[in-house]
Amino acid sequence: MIGRLNHVAIAVPDIEAAAAQYRGTLGASVRPAQDEPDHGVRVVFIDLPNTKIELLTPLGEGSPIAGFLEKNPSGGIHHICYEVEDIIAARDQLKASGARVLGSGEPKIGAHGKPVLFLHPKDFNGCLVELEQV
Ligand code: CO
Repeated sequence: MIGRLNHVAIAVPDIEAAAAQYRGTLGASVRPAQDEPDHGVRVVFIDLPNTKIELLTPLGEGSPIAGFLEKNPSGGIHHICYEVEDIIAARDQLKASGARVLGSGEPKIGAHGKPVLFLHPKDFNGCLVELEQV
């Protein structure tokens, strides 16, 4: 069902400093920051030859990553995103096998303008999993 690794997301307390580190120290191709008010985050995408890195920092009140940064003040890996061809079919198959889909269970439009869903980390070895339809 899952295809390519679309991105690894890292929650960071200072997204400008993190972006500068990837651009300067690591010599990566870093895109400009974008605000995602629907998701409560500001994101910076970094293009690697075989995948992307998504830097995340809280935006506004009640950001879904605020609690994560409280527990991990210096930041940390927040989720991994796998590509799927049909997100509704993937969701229904996963739910039938007992996996929990976060939120309403309906796909939202993610940072790339494509439908995404998140799966409960306790059902996937402690790793928050994002599915993106490509
Ligand atoms: Co993501």
